[in-house]
Amino acid sequence: MIPEGLAYGGDYNPEQWPEEVWAEDVRLMREAGVNMVSVNIFAWALLEPSEGTYDFSRLDKILALLHENGIAADLATPTAAPPAWFFRAHPQALPVDRDGRGLSYGSRQTFCPSSPEYREAALRIARVLGERYADHPAVVMWHIHNEYGCHNAECYCDVSAAAFRRWLRERYGDLATLNDAWGTTFWSQWYHDWDEIIPPRATGAVPNPTHRLDWRRFCSDELLSLYKAERDVLREAAPSIPATTNFMVMYNFDALDYWRWAPELDVVSNDHYLRSTDPESEIDIALSGDLVRSLAGGPWLLMEHSTGAVNWQPVNRAKTAGELRRNALAHVARGADGIAYFQWRAAKAGAEQWHSAMLPHAGTDSQIWRDVVALGADLKALAEVRGTTNPASVAVVWDWNARWALELPSQPSESVRYLDLVRSWYEPLWRSGVAVDFVHPSADLSSYRLVLAPALYLVDDSAAANLTGFAAAGGSLVVGFHSGAVDTNCHVRLGGYPGAFRDSLGVRTDELFPLLPGESLALSDGGTASLWSERVRLEGAEAVTSYTSGPLAGTPAVTRHIYGEGTAWYVATHPDPSTLAGLLDRIRTEAGVEPVRKTPEGVEAVLRRGAEADYLFLVNHGDRAAEVEVAPGATNLLTGVAAAGGTVVVPPGDVVVAREVRG
Ligand code: GLA
Repeated sequence: MIPEGLAYGGDYNPEQWPEEVWAEDVRLMREAGVNMVSVNIFAWALLEPSEGTYDFSRLDKILALLHENGIAADLATPTAAPPAWFFRAHPQALPVDRDGRGLSYGSRQTFCPSSPEYREAALRIARVLGERYADHPAVVMWHIHNEYGCHNAECYCDVSAAAFRRWLRERYGDLATLNDAWGTTFWSQWYHDWDEIIPPRATGAVPNPTHRLDWRRFCSDELLSLYKAERDVLREAAPSIPATTNFMVMYNFDALDYWRWAPELDVVSNDHYLRSTDPESEIDIALSGDLVRSLAGGPWLLMEHSTGAVNWQPVNRAKTAGELRRNALAHVARGADGIAYFQWRAAKAGAEQWHSAMLPHAGTDSQIWRDVVALGADLKALAEVRGTTNPASVAVVWDWNARWALELPSQPSESVRYLDLVRSWYEPLWRSGVAVDFVHPSADLSSYRLVLAPALYLVDDSAAANLTGFAAAGGSLVVGFHSGAVDTNCHVRLGGYPGAFRDSLGVRTDELFPLLPGESLALSDGGTASLWSERVRLEGAEAVTSYTSGPLAGTPAVTRHIYGEGTAWYVATHPDPSTLAGLLDRIRTEAGVEPVRKTPEGVEAVLRRGAEADYLFLVNHGDRAAEVEVAPGATNLLTGVAAAGGTVVVPPGDVVVAREVRG
């Protein structure tokens, strides 16, 4: 990481251009206030033109040029895109998909994660880079690989099968334990020999759920072991340079259990792209930022996002006026200490020629370039925000194991999707301006007043005890439908649903009644419910709202239970957005949770806390100017203008960062 202030830059791929262009690149980087760029991400084929022969001349020049211009380098190991020569020499390192189809080279991120030949080649280039550039003054961070798991999270080849078996032996020790965990007496799947076990390849009927779940765990761990191996090689060669790899916590990417990854990174970084079909992508940015900050346990880096359209959605929309700035500063508000883009200069050739960049095809006489330059000035003005934290008294439980399990085939309803559920609970919290962390189910919860578990289908015994213990000790716990249903092996918890949480919630469900797409039920509080219902019986809890239509009329839909010193709520259905918002508002008010600041609708308020001052980020997503109260003597860091009369006005589409001195 750069020594001070916020980082600003992007992926810099000068190898896409003749050398004459580079001088203009660095001149324009300086003009825009760029202070750190990621280089070498996809340069393997040029760096190592044939196995074991290297040509560092280009990279040497690039790093020297950056250094002369005061721009730091986040130097990548180029291992996400092995060269053609590698696959010609080692065709067995190409991946095989679930249907048994072998994939070819000619793109990127197409290799078998378990291939020993790939590992050897990746570690070799990492070591050579580490040794060559360990003391280079431009190099401030290692960017290991690129987006692990993007396109190649799973390989179903025989080499992967053997690696999977090794992983299973480690997990289970003996076959009897594995057979028991996987419930292999069902459908005659009993394994008598380790060699009988294969990846969950395409087969005629539904796969074994625990087999499939363990496969996902294995695939995440397999890539993690590659990351760790590269990191260790670099640490040995250059112990003082921190390492990162860019996560993708959003847009339905779910291949990696980032709770297991994050502790292995020196700096946590994330890539975030808007989905053109999301009319409120500001909520997606907020959720992503809160999640990645929680993974990092503090500030993090936005390693990639876009200045405008991407090129990988069915229709790729440009950003509207002011959106580039709002997006970037909203990430900073949620804890980003640096903002970077894919990529510096828009490519004229290659697979991403229609992807936006900091310097667009149109050149500097363009809106994007003007916005990029202006953002550089904003980030400079926000330098002192670096390292500050985001206090929160609400935690939302997030777990990749629960997500994988919930979305296995042959569930009660395939309409139940993890991210949709979490977002539907997150949205009302966002609208009411409540600060939220995400937590692993077994995290220390003692600093929170309110813990929400919207979708915790799978939970192990100790995590369940952690959550219910939080309520018993005086916290407010809110549990979403179908949570606690299965244990860590995906076995149903018997005796009634919601298994692990039955006692703490004071309810017992004997049968599930998921709803058809488009079907909805009336609720006694005037709202409606969709997606899910279940026959809940009260066993100590009170009904907050009940169904007034459908086969379960009269049955509780939301319940509240005094449990120990605290309260445990069960949301046994999917209430419509305003009903859910009303419910979560009531719950958080009872729990004593206040919004960061009272703001008019559409104005997002996020607080970063420093040693002496608070930094109140106000992002106006609406089309009307908004007046917001700030502490006496506050100053807008972005303009240097002091707030008059204890309020600031945030023009439509604009951002204010009020520096409020504490004490
Ligand atoms: C990913 C990759 C980049 C680029 C962008 C395009 O995030 O890491 O190399 O392909 O997507 O959006």
